[in-house]
Amino acid sequence: MNRETKLWPADETAVAEAARTLREGGIVAFPTETVYGLGADARNPQAVRQVFEAKGRPSDNPLIVHIADREQLDELVLPFGGIPARLMEAFWPGPLTIVLPVRPGAAAPQVTAGLDTVAVRMPAHPVALRLIAAAGCPVAAPSANRSGRPSPTLAAHVMEDLAGRIDGVVDGGPAEVGLESTVVMVEDKRIRVLRPGGVTREALAEAAGCEVIAEGDARESREDAAPRSPGMKYAHYAPRGEMTLVIGDGEAVRAYIGREAAAARAAGCRTGVLTFEEHAGFYDADAVVVCGSLARPEQAAQRLYAALREFDARGIGRIWAEGCPPEGIGLALMNRLAKAAGGRIVRV
Ligand code: TXA
Ligand code: MG
Repeated sequence: MNRETKLWPADETAVAEAARTLREGGIVAFPTETVYGLGADARNPQAVRQVFEAKGRPSDNPLIVHIADREQLDELVLPFGGIPARLMEAFWPGPLTIVLPVRPGAAAPQVTAGLDTVAVRMPAHPVALRLIAAAGCPVAAPSANRSGRPSPTLAAHVMEDLAGRIDGVVDGGPAEVGLESTVVMVEDKRIRVLRPGGVTREALAEAAGCEVIAEGDARESREDAAPRSPGMKYAHYAPRGEMTLVIGDGEAVRAYIGREAAAARAAGCRTGVLTFEEHAGFYDADAVVVCGSLARPEQAAQRLYAALREFDARGIGRIWAEGCPPEGIGLALMNRLAKAAGGRIVRV
């Protein structure tokens, strides 16, 4: 793959050119409020295939389709019930993806990976909405990173991963939420969270007035706990260095990380610590990266992926990350940290 990748500003002329590229079967990265997406016309199998190729994405992992208005929704999905309707009312445009019954033939088969459902989202970003509306097609878009790398929250991250492999990037500045959308499906009048994200469980329950369960909840039977969101089974979001997530009482966590990092450093390893403002002064490592204040988990969410990329840029071989309380957006943050750690989680 070796094509010219344009870096467009988010002005009218550039958005029109990006939209034309999508209509003509090209692939274009664009800003959303969560992370940057890599878009293709969801109805065009050749265009969608290029998205999988550019990312190196496994073909059994379906894509989210982005829409700009309700008319596009009706063309894409079959009639749905009251709970999805209430969720759309409450959270669209916004960081919520809803899995709905797909209208046969409305999306290229690779978009749904052969399922009879499609994941749909109306992003809350003016540039994304203008681009989709101007393209006049539903836009299938996974996050605009190489598969397995942290999702991009800046146009520069997209260029880092995909320059030469895609037709262009519209630069809309930093993504506001910083973590991918919440993915849900509705079954038996309950909302099942397939991927935690920008919309919290608490907010979903309040808006829909029904029970909200999470993938893998303890009360689920083993068969029920089989992953329904194919993407969740892949290692994701990982920095190049080996990362360990450390959970527990604050003081014990700091003592553990301090000890481990010092030992690794003495053994000649470049070490990194991912921490919060309140604890930054405590550590002695080659890279101490602060992703925000403990008091403002939404800020840590916004900066997480840039922080993971920073460890890579600084050639860090081993990383320790402090956990945070799994409440509100903290739940999504912990989910991504655990994935970045590839399951290396230490409780102290
Ligand atoms: O915030 C976001 O959601 C970003 C921006 C660009 O919108 N997109 C994103 O896409 O994160 P991606 O492809 O990286 O993640 C899509 C997730 C995967 O976990 C995938 O398995 C799941 O949605 N998914 C897609 N279609 C599905 C379906 N029909 N049923 C269940 N899960 C589905
Ligand atoms: Mg992704």
